[in-house]
Amino acid sequence: MKRIVTLVSGRGSNMQAIHAACVQQGWPAAVVAVVSNRPGAGALDYAAAQGITTAVVDHRAYPSRDTFDDALAAAVDGFRPDLLVLAGFMRILGAAFVRRYEGRMLNIHPSLLPAFPGLHTHRRALEAGCQAAGATVHFVTPELDHGPIVMQSVVPVRPGDDEHRLADRVLATEHSIYPLAVRWFVEGKLAVADGRVRQLAGESQSFS
Ligand code: GAR
Repeated sequence: MKRIVTLVSGRGSNMQAIHAACVQQGWPAAVVAVVSNRPGAGALDYAAAQGITTAVVDHRAYPSRDTFDDALAAAVDGFRPDLLVLAGFMRILGAAFVRRYEGRMLNIHPSLLPAFPGLHTHRRALEAGCQAAGATVHFVTPELDHGPIVMQSVVPVRPGDDEHRLADRVLATEHSIYPLAVRWFVEGKLAVADGRVRQLAGESQSFS
C-alpha cells in the first residue's frame, strides 16, 4: 500500500479527485495526509470530513524559505510518504526540499509546459493568441515547472474565452489526468530516463 501525502494551498479540487479515484477504483494506495501552508484552505475541510489526517505548516510563521521548507519536510516525513502530490500548492520549494523527494513528487500545472511556467497561465496563453491550452502533470525538479512530463491535457481555446472560462475547462481535464498519473505512479507503471517519462503499459500520456 503506497502512502500518498498531498500538499495544498487552496480549495483542493485536484486532491479531492485523486482521493475519490483512489477509494472508488481501489488503488494499492491511500491518501494518508493533506498538508497545507494556509490554515484556511478549503482542502482541509474536505480532508477532515473524509477522515484524512491534516496538518498546517503556515509559511508566515517562518523567517525564510529554508526554515519553512525544513518544517514542511519534518511534517511530511512524519507521514512516511511514498509519493508527494502537489495539488494547487502555491509555494516555491527550495532545491534541498525538492531533492529530498525527487522521483516521488508530482505536480500539476495549468499550462502546456514548457510554455507558461509560473502564474497567470491562462491569461498569458490568451494574450499570446494560443489556439490550445491545457495542463501538465510532471515530476518536480529544482527548476520551477520544468520536470519530466507524465501527462498533458489539451483544451481548445474558444472565441470569447476569458481566463476564467478557460481555467474552468482546463481544470475539468486536470481532474482526469492527475488521478490517472498518480494511479500510474502507485501501480509502478512510470519510468523516467533522460528527463522523459514512459508509461510502461503503453497507455496514452495525452488527453483531450
Ligand atoms: C489548479 O488549476 C492547478 O493546476 C493550479 O492551481 C489550481 C489548484 O486548484 N496549480 C498551479 O498553478 C501550480 N503552479 P485546486 O486547489 O482546486 O486543485
